[in-house]
Amino acid sequence: MSITRDAEWQGMKKVSEVVAVTLREMMLYARPGMATAQLDEYGAAMLRKFGAVSAPKATYDFPGSTCISLNHEIAHGIPSGNKILSEGDLVNIDVSAELNGYWADNGCSFVLGNDIHHHQKLVNASKRILNKALLHIKAGVRIAEIGRLIENEARKAGFKVIENLTGHGVGKGLHEAPFEIPNFYDRANRGRFSRNSVVAVETFISTRSSFADTMSDGWTLMGDKGGYTAQHEHTIVVTDDRPLILTALNGI
Ligand code: CO
Ligand code: CO
Repeated sequence: MSITRDAEWQGMKKVSEVVAVTLREMMLYARPGMATAQLDEYGAAMLRKFGAVSAPKATYDFPGSTCISLNHEIAHGIPSGNKILSEGDLVNIDVSAELNGYWADNGCSFVLGNDIHHHQKLVNASKRILNKALLHIKAGVRIAEIGRLIENEARKAGFKVIENLTGHGVGKGLHEAPFEIPNFYDRANRGRFSRNSVVAVETFISTRSSFADTMSDGWTLMGDKGGYTAQHEHTIVVTDDRPLILTALNGI
């Protein structure tokens, strides 16, 4: 969406804070031994308390309130009573929700507890690359150039990017124009960031794979060549200078 009125600013700020707080609280609540369904229920209760509605559930009938992806899973992991968190797991929680007609999207990969499997380097690279990309987004910048930056930074850090998962416009729905904000230089993408538009920018930085495949459950995405992927996602408003990061809490 493009923000034109103060009510839209307020609406976007509110729903963005809701998803950001929910994501942060879920990360703090996650413990080894906990099933991902329990973590999801905790997030679902928090969204309910805020009066918000799970976006993937409302939009796609996703079988969970949040997406929780473990280890080799890239995204869209289905919360389950059979999936138990373990020390050192690479965990991704993606929270998106609707409140009063406004939608926001926020995701974060992290290492659960001690980094016994050495995922922290990948997580740090993804977080750093997202923040660098955000610094370069302003009105008029080509979307493809941000993809180039993400791809180059990933390569310099010894990683790859997933090419068929992208950021997207957000605001009046979960996924809206621009429909693709890729993590690589897509020369066919002629789009530019426009002033006051709301977009969700999300990294997909991987150790081995370049494409995501959908598993037999119809949702879970895994790398075509295995390995691990980290994702960090913020909902932002594009300006003529640095973007406003709506899902950042206390500047994080
Ligand atoms: Co998204
Ligand atoms: Co998301």
